[in-house]
Amino acid sequence: MMKSATYAVRSPYVVNIEDLRLLARRRLPRAVFDYLDGGAEGELTLSENVRVFREVTFRPRNAVATDAYNLKTRVLGEELSFPALLAPVGYSRLMHPGGEVAAARAAGDAGTVYILSTISGHKLENVKAATKGPAWYQLYLVGGREAAESAIDRAHQAGFTALVITVDTPVAGMRERDARNGMKELLGASLFAKLPYLPNFLAYPRWLTSFLLDGGVPKLENIVIPGHGPMELMDVVAALSRAVVTWEDLGWIREIWRGPIVVKGILTGDDAKRAADKGAAAIVVSNHGGRQLDGVPASLRALPEVVAAVGGQTEVLMDGGIRRGSDIVKAICLGARAVLCGRAYAYGLAAAGEAGVARALEILKGDVERTLRLLGCSAIAELDSSYVDTRLLQNCLR
Ligand SMILES: Cc1cc2nc3c(=O)[nH]c(=O)nc-3n(C[C@H](O)[C@H](O)[C@H](O)COP(=O)(O)O)c2cc1C
Repeated sequence: MMKSATYAVRSPYVVNIEDLRLLARRRLPRAVFDYLDGGAEGELTLSENVRVFREVTFRPRNAVATDAYNLKTRVLGEELSFPALLAPVGYSRLMHPGGEVAAARAAGDAGTVYILSTISGHKLENVKAATKGPAWYQLYLVGGREAAESAIDRAHQAGFTALVITVDTPVAGMRERDARNGMKELLGASLFAKLPYLPNFLAYPRWLTSFLLDGGVPKLENIVIPGHGPMELMDVVAALSRAVVTWEDLGWIREIWRGPIVVKGILTGDDAKRAADKGAAAIVVSNHGGRQLDGVPASLRALPEVVAAVGGQTEVLMDGGIRRGSDIVKAICLGARAVLCGRAYAYGLAAAGEAGVARALEILKGDVERTLRLLGCSAIAELDSSYVDTRLLQNCLR
């Protein structure tokens, strides 16, 4: 890990995740930062994901002394050092050349799971080799069934232990910032179409140099089209329009993947039951970080309905809006076993590569431990709804 990168993200320069976000904004060209930071349409769900945590307040048990605090959690049989996993984040290699390899290494060092997106610029074998922790593979059907089957086989050979099927992307959400920044043109073939969008990149010489030294636009190393090789990186709208996974697809996926399947992108009790009945070992309550259907509820708001619907039949994880460790604790009090963080670590990746991801995880883990101590609770496993007041959250539903 580069010493200078570690230095750039130490306290007092970086004290919370928002500090990493600001560093990322300074380092990335606008098109790349907005791709990471933005959401769909009016970004209602994106902002709601973050805001809704305010509606859950804590009920601490004070004057309690405990010597040891246990942050450990088990997810699909794996022991995590604290209850947060790294969510699949596409195009990570555009944020930093280290991309998925750097993020996976930091996840392993922090004792947690890294989930690799299909839309990734590093070979899945190299990503798995970089982490000493567990890794899961997130599947989209970009490139068709044959390409997916070969990725599933490679993921199994490389040692990925779970397959994550994202079900909320029958088409890409309308990310207005991406349209304005010319993402489609920038990742397309025509130089002429790119021209109006290029000047902004010249204003970020550090990013541009590292991008060019890394070989420019990376290929999608894990979508190998038979007879053609790795797919060219395409814009997100084109990628996701060919990515839809249906309940029927879960059947054939089940036949070729022997390990646990995680269904990501569930927002209702009905879909949660359906996923459980189809054999999902875990589900992720998620609205894709507010990047798909704008106007769906914040994930935290959808969580209690899903937890009640599955009644312990599968493990329930959630993601969306996690920016502090106290958010993680609140989600667990509402019934999640653990959370996935997307932007929180991706801002760190963009800001300083592996060191930035490590710093993001250090901040979140430190927050979780402090929150437990302030709550007078000695272990993650002991958290439940008695530690929070959810009346505000419930009132808003009436
Ligand atoms: C830049 C970016 C790219 C993403 N790419 C993927 C992806 O390839 N596959 C996927 O299932 N989810 C993807 N997601 C969604 C995340 O896995 C996760 O659901 C979301 O980021 C959680 O919200 P948060 O960013 O507020 O933590 C992406 C999110 C972001 C921010």
